[in-house]
Amino acid sequence: MDDWHIQLKPFLGGLGDMPQEPRKGRDVYNGYIRGCGLKYGNLKDLCFADPVFTEAYELATAPSPNGKPRTVVSPLNLINIFTILRLNLAPRQSPGHIVEFGALRGGSAIFMAFAAKTLLPGTQVISFDTFAGFPETNAEIDVYREGSFEKVDLDELRGHTASLGLNNLTFIEGRFEDTLPGALKEIGRVCLAHIDCDVYDAVVYSYEQVKPYLGEGAYLIFDDPLVPSCIGAFEAVEEYLIRRDGLHAEQVFPHMVFRSP
Ligand SMILES: C[S@@+](CC[C@H](N)C(=O)[O-])C[C@H]1O[C@@H](n2cnc3c(N)ncnc32)[C@H](O)[C@@H]1O
Repeated sequence: MDDWHIQLKPFLGGLGDMPQEPRKGRDVYNGYIRGCGLKYGNLKDLCFADPVFTEAYELATAPSPNGKPRTVVSPLNLINIFTILRLNLAPRQSPGHIVEFGALRGGSAIFMAFAAKTLLPGTQVISFDTFAGFPETNAEIDVYREGSFEKVDLDELRGHTASLGLNNLTFIEGRFEDTLPGALKEIGRVCLAHIDCDVYDAVVYSYEQVKPYLGEGAYLIFDDPLVPSCIGAFEAVEEYLIRRDGLHAEQVFPHMVFRSP
């Protein structure tokens, strides 16, 4: 698993003697390696030369029945998720499960489940959504409104993932407020939460619900806060993770990554 040789541009030489212990609850060194590896290094090339990544990526970006790609998550964000799975979680023994808040057409969940099958045997991926668009949103801060995004044919999605042999992937249908409390209790320890639900209330609620189940050093990946149309997601992170819980981000490119305390 450590046959990846991440090369960075010479101006990042300071990383050579950076302490590799956690600082303020986050692994600064690893955050730099991933973020700079993507922007100023060869991480993208390494991923596209990796057969597990390329197959997962093809599945995630393949067209869904309505002709749109299965995922709206950007390639860089998928690369970063894959890098965390491969470099940071795969070396751990039974790290826990992966949860996703915001499945839409299932693309990023399929991506993570396909990669986890090889990299994290025993880890389940559980992805939540209404599959009918957003419930009510907060008009003071969110640009999305009730019903934004589309209705997804969940039977088709489940049939599709079964045909891919992804028996480590479960989709749970309903508003987070109705599904998360019971489901998370059953899932148990979480090693990675992919929070991809765009709007203030949903980001706050999913973070609050998953928090008690995060294993030590679990990854909290926020797809949206730095996206121009998702200031509500950013406000949720500002208020709950940064101000209230005093967390520091391990990465801000290509998306925000925090570690559980
Ligand atoms: C950006 S999409 C997810 C994208 C997806 N991860 C992908 O691979 O393309 C955001 C999703 O969050 C869901 N969502 C937002 N708030 C929700 C809530 N309170 N309960 C359930 N689903 C919610 C929406 O229905 C929408 O499908």
